[in-house]
Amino acid sequence: MGQPPKWNKTLLRASLPPRTTRPGDELARADLSESIEALRRHRDADAPKDMRAAFQADPGRFGAFSLTFDDLLLDWSKCAVDAATMTLLEKTARAADLEGKRAAMFAGEPINLTEGRAVLHVALRGAAAGVADGRSKEAAEVSRVLEALSAFADAIRSGRTKGATGRKITDVVNIGIGGSDLGPQMAVLALAPFHDGPRAHFVSNVDGAHISDVLKPLDPETTFFIIASKTFTTIETMTNATTAKAWVQSAVGADLASLHFAAVSTAVDKAAAFGIPAERVFGFWDWVGGRYSLWSAIGLPIMIAVGPENFRRFLAGAHAMDEHFRTAPILENLPAVLGLIGWWHRVICFYPARAVIPYDQRLSRLPAYLQQLDMESNGKGVAIDGTPVTTPTGPLVFGEPGTNGQHAFFQLLHQGTDVIPVEFIIAAEGFEPELAHHHDLLVANCLAQSEALMRGRTLDEARAQLLKAGMDAAKAETIAPHRVFSGNRPSVTIVHQKLDPFALGRLVALYEHRVFVEAALFGINAFDQWGVELGKELATGLLPVVEGKASAAGRDASTAGLVAHIHALAAE
Ligand code: F6P
Repeated sequence: MGQPPKWNKTLLRASLPPRTTRPGDELARADLSESIEALRRHRDADAPKDMRAAFQADPGRFGAFSLTFDDLLLDWSKCAVDAATMTLLEKTARAADLEGKRAAMFAGEPINLTEGRAVLHVALRGAAAGVADGRSKEAAEVSRVLEALSAFADAIRSGRTKGATGRKITDVVNIGIGGSDLGPQMAVLALAPFHDGPRAHFVSNVDGAHISDVLKPLDPETTFFIIASKTFTTIETMTNATTAKAWVQSAVGADLASLHFAAVSTAVDKAAAFGIPAERVFGFWDWVGGRYSLWSAIGLPIMIAVGPENFRRFLAGAHAMDEHFRTAPILENLPAVLGLIGWWHRVICFYPARAVIPYDQRLSRLPAYLQQLDMESNGKGVAIDGTPVTTPTGPLVFGEPGTNGQHAFFQLLHQGTDVIPVEFIIAAEGFEPELAHHHDLLVANCLAQSEALMRGRTLDEARAQLLKAGMDAAKAETIAPHRVFSGNRPSVTIVHQKLDPFALGRLVALYEHRVFVEAALFGINAFDQWGVELGKELATGLLPVVEGKASAAGRDASTAGLVAHIHALAAE
C-alpha cells in the first residue's frame, strides 16, 4: 500500500500564496493549514488503524458513526475515524465557513464567481414544494414552467398531442449531452417501475452510430424529439438534432416536422431559430448549472416517462434533503458528514479515487451521473481566489452496480496497492416481491463486501483456511500470501427503504450537497467547468483539417501524424 506523503507545515505555509484579499471578502479563501496539520497528526497518532479492533472495542461504533434522516441511513463506521476525528472535521468545516457558504447558496448569492451567477437548483425543488424563500421572482418562473411542462407531458402521455400524421407518440428521444443527458437518463432508468408513458431513448454521442442505432427500430411518425441543451450551441447536440430533423422531414415533410420536436434551453431564441414552435420551447435559467439541471425543464423526459405527479415527488425528495442540509448541525447533517468523510479520505489520507456501487440495477447510470456531478464540479486546480490549490481536490469517481462490479474491478479494491474508499447504496426493499430471494442475495453481497473490505484476512487465517481444506503445509505456505486481504479499507453504506421518486430525489440531492461541502473545504468554485473548453475550441479548429479542407501544417507532429494516418486508412 502506498504511503501518503508526509505532512510538512513549513512546506504548506511556503506553498500558500500571500492573501491578496481582505478577510470577509467573497474571494478570500480560508487558510485550513492548521486544521489539516492537526488532522494529519491525528491520523498518524490516534485515529483507528485496526478496524476489527475498533469494532471489538466499541460495540456502539455503528450507532456513533451513522446517521438517519427518515428511512435514509448513512453509515461511515467502517471508515478509520473516531470521535476526535469528527470533532476535528467539524472544526475544519467551521474554519472553511461551510455554514456561511451554505447560507450564501440558499440565499441566491452569486457564489459561482467566475461566471457571476447564483446557484439555485435548490429553488427548483423549493418552488415545486411551494417554498419561495424570499425568491419570489424565481419561484414564480419555476412554477410557471413546471405547469407548462406538466401540461405538455400530459398531452404527450395521453395521446392528445399527436405526430404530424395523427398517430399517437410511442417513443420519445432526448437529444442532449452531459447535464442535458446524464440526469434524465439516470432517473428514467431508476424509476422504471413508475414508467407508464411512451418509451424513452437518449442520444448524446456525436458518433453517428448512436443516433443511427437508436432510430433504427423507431417510426418517425410516432417518434418525438426533445432537443435539450442549456446553451443550444453544443456541437454534439446540434449535429444530432439536425440529423433527427432530416429523419423526420423525410417521413412527414419539411412543413410538419416541427410537430415532432420540443426544446429545452436557457437560449429560447436559439431553439426558436432551429424551427421549434415557441409553445414547445421550455426555458430554464443561467442559475441552474448543467449538471444540476435535471430538476428543471431538462427533466422533461423523466416527466413524460413517469408522469408529472411522480416528477413532483422526485422534486419533493430533493427538497426534503435541501431542508435537512440547510438546517441540520454539521455532524447531524448527512451531506455534510458524507462530504467531510470524502474530504478526509482525499486530503488527509491521500486516497486518489472513490467507487460508488449502487446495489440496484436501476441505478446503473448513477455512477456515470455522479462522475459529471463530482468531477466536473471539483476537478479544479485553482482556488476561488485564482491561486493554485495547496491540497488535492476532487477524487476520481467510478462505479458499476453491484453485484456486477464484484466480478470486474473489486479485485483491485480488495488487494490492489491503492486504497479506494467505496460507497455502497442499497434499498431495503425491491419492486419484485416474487423475487425476494434475489433481493436477499443482493443485500447479503452488499454487506459482505463492506465487511470484507473492513475485516480483511490475515496470513494466519489464510494459511489455516488452506490447511483446513486439505492443502499440504508447504503449498499452503506458498499460496497463503496471495489470499491475504489487508482489510482496513474504508467504506460508507447508504441504505434507504425503496427506490421511489421521492427517495431518488433525496439521494441525488444528498450527493449534490456532498460535492458542495467538499468544494467548500477545497476552497474552489464547484460551479464552473472551464476545463472542458480547450478541447472544444481545438476540435472546432481541427474539423476542417479532418475534413481535408485545411492543412495540418503548424500542428504538433503527433496530431498531424494521426490525421495523416486516419486519412490514409479512410482512403483504403
Ligand atoms: O461539457 C461541458 C458542458 O457544458 C456541461 O457542463 C454540460 O452539461 C454539457 O456541456 C452540455 O451543455 P448544453 O446543455 O449547453 O448542451
